[in-house]
Amino acid sequence: AAIGLDLGTSGLKGVVLDEEGRKLAEARAGYPLLTPRPGWTEQDPRDWAEALREVLQALAPRLRGLEVVGVGLSGQMHGAVFLDKEGDPLLPAPLWNDQRTEEEARWIEEVIPRPELIRRTGNPAVTGFQLPKVLWLKANHPELFQRVRKVLLPKDYLGFLLTGQAATEYSDASGVGALNLAQKAWDAELLEALGLVADIFPELGESHRVVGGLKPAWAEVAGLRPGTPVVAGAGDNAAAALGLGVSRYRKGVGSVSLGTSGVIFLPLEAPKPDPEGRIHLFCHADGAYHLLGVTLSAAGSLEWLRRLFPEVSLETLLREAGETPLGALDLFFLPFLSGERSPYLEPRLRGAFLGLSLAHGRGHLVRAVLEGVALSLGVVYRVMRPLAEAEAFLATGGGSASDLWLALLSGALGTPLFRVVGEEGAARGAGILALVGAGVYGSLEEALRATRLEEVPGPAPLEEVQNLFPEYEAWTEALLARYRRL
Ligand code: XUL
Repeated sequence: AAIGLDLGTSGLKGVVLDEEGRKLAEARAGYPLLTPRPGWTEQDPRDWAEALREVLQALAPRLRGLEVVGVGLSGQMHGAVFLDKEGDPLLPAPLWNDQRTEEEARWIEEVIPRPELIRRTGNPAVTGFQLPKVLWLKANHPELFQRVRKVLLPKDYLGFLLTGQAATEYSDASGVGALNLAQKAWDAELLEALGLVADIFPELGESHRVVGGLKPAWAEVAGLRPGTPVVAGAGDNAAAALGLGVSRYRKGVGSVSLGTSGVIFLPLEAPKPDPEGRIHLFCHADGAYHLLGVTLSAAGSLEWLRRLFPEVSLETLLREAGETPLGALDLFFLPFLSGERSPYLEPRLRGAFLGLSLAHGRGHLVRAVLEGVALSLGVVYRVMRPLAEAEAFLATGGGSASDLWLALLSGALGTPLFRVVGEEGAARGAGILALVGAGVYGSLEEALRATRLEEVPGPAPLEEVQNLFPEYEAWTEALLARYRRL
């Protein structure tokens, strides 16, 4: 068996997998999200350490009698854990959705023009990435920055606790904003131009490599053998994709998630970015690359609407939406409730209902939300398509339980959708990487074949939703023009 850990934004999840990838046990522990100022989001790495202890303790009784060959890591990307020479965190870790670094992101593109930055790292300067956080600390707290020996990504801090080694791997490292994608090395020229040195970042390598052995104190918490291999793992998106078997070894299959945010993930052989950087290009955990498009409010939009109608159930709302016609009588919902990532990279953008009339009732509002989210993911895929095309997507996340939503999404993407049967999520991918790192499988390809989940076809696409794109895009343009002026 292997353990997969996923350090999420709301909690740490641990799963125990057998060698075929079946889930034997699961445990979770939460921790608070700190928002000390508007736009700031942080977590205390000490809370993560405590959650790690709780999860391992909770799994311990379930591990008795099993041979645990390794532990694999995954987690929220882009965050920054600043460690001093004793290996202690110097301050709370700013997270992937922290917006304090607008100025630093702008400065990065003044020093390295956007096209060159995209050519080197695959992405423009994004406020949420780790690199601008490092520059923020240097500019705002030079005395703390002086004391920084290493800056780690969130899941790599777990690896550091467990093994004492400061290490990372290409998938998460490519979300820092300073990894040269073609060379798979920290971009020393870029860092030098920004007044930084590469050795504050951890050592790089493949996702399935062993970074160290479990320290005795942690081994004891879980009742494991000291020295049990800890495998580098992957950022949560890459790990979740591996958990679904989405990789270079299965051509033409991507994934789409209807979680709080909506995510499209597409494997890619070569580091070929969108020249305008409208979608992310990162390293995958399979030795190749992937595109990632994120619409920030997907199931989050439906959840927002649901809270406005506490008197009825979600099922009722979805049924009412199903009883209204496509297009919701010319009502459009633009899901930019917390700004938008792909393809606009515009945190100031806001959402809207447009075209309201006296004819509209509750069901039309819900339908417009489902359609608007499907269309926003459709817009993202249209930007990805010239770089990588999917013959099918595997649909995941809470929203994928709705047939209506999947039919709309399938229509908007112009691609068949499938659901998977069984455990999904990043912890599963981390566990699979641990099986490879510990030598249970000779290669990742073999492991993915052996752990593949059953897939069932989703509903037939509602192709007519495509007819809504022109007007949806016209409204989006109008909103972008308005909010970019602010
Ligand atoms: C990816 C991203 C998020 C985090 C959250 O670019 O910011 O998906 O990884 O978990």
